[in-house]
Amino acid sequence: MLFVLFFVVVWLLTAFRSSHYYLEQTVERRTAALRSEIEERKRLEHAKLQAERLAMVGSMAAKVAHEIRNPLGSISLNLDLIGEELNAFSNSDARSSEEYRVLLREMRSQVLRIHQVLQEYLRFGRMPKSERAALSLKGLFEEKLNFLQPLLDEKHVQLTKTFDPHVPLVHADPEQLWEAFLNLIRNAIDAMPDGGNLTVNTKKNGATALVYISDNGRGMTKDEARNLFVPFFTTKSDGTGLGLAHTQQIINEHGGKIDCTTSPGKGSTFAIQLPLAVGA
Ligand SMILES: Nc1ncnc2c1ncn2[C@@H]1O[C@H](COP(=O)(O)OP(=O)(O)OP(=O)(O)O)[C@@H](O)[C@H]1O
Ligand SMILES: [Mg+2]
Repeated sequence: MLFVLFFVVVWLLTAFRSSHYYLEQTVERRTAALRSEIEERKRLEHAKLQAERLAMVGSMAAKVAHEIRNPLGSISLNLDLIGEELNAFSNSDARSSEEYRVLLREMRSQVLRIHQVLQEYLRFGRMPKSERAALSLKGLFEEKLNFLQPLLDEKHVQLTKTFDPHVPLVHADPEQLWEAFLNLIRNAIDAMPDGGNLTVNTKKNGATALVYISDNGRGMTKDEARNLFVPFFTTKSDGTGLGLAHTQQIINEHGGKIDCTTSPGKGSTFAIQLPLAVGA
């Protein structure tokens, strides 16, 4: 009788221990799932806020750009007229007219620079509605990268492309997507002023396609990496700081995700995740 009682107690204890262990495991699993859900939700909220802020910045910039464009055109025209007038006088006082011409040229190039920045803002403010369809990433890169070859040669940048043949079609607007990739490629080229290696890779990752754009350029400081996607953040004397903000907006609107890993002095890699086309 005592033996049976002992056996029942041991059995109860073992059963209790294993159910306790099972409970602990379940709680741990659920906590991890909840944590990742909270993080994903935070990321989406952040992306939404960023998109709203960009939409406001974009429409404000577009209005300002419109207001400035006309007076800028008239200044440009007047500069040209003064230049022509100076040419007519050039025989009477050659030395000073040449000095004036240099000043005019400088003013002309500054006006041109403002004009370019305005064009960029206007383009940003009026991002056209995207026309998405099933798209081959390999096809897009093969077509567009060819046009970049002269620039890459000039900058002594070696391009390596690896396209995973198993990457299915993505659901995307080719022109917008290329604009996003081109911004990343331009930045990569800028980060390698003495030349370097640019790599473009694609691969399949579950229900998404992944694109990696890497350079072995100057990389970024922690501060730069933190502000990377903030509109108007730039470390370049001639940059608008809108390139990456625009890129992120395009990728977000495509239901994708963009991340960057970087190491000062070693280079940077941008990873872009894109949803696959239905049935792909
Ligand atoms: N591949 C990279 N390597 C190092 N720094 C980078 C890289 N890509 C972006 N950056 C940093 O992020 C900043 C913001 O980039 P973004 O493309 O938004 O603007 P920009 O390149 O400065 O100006 P714009 O795109 O108008 O020419 C850059 O000024 C640079 O400091
Ligand atoms: Mg840029």
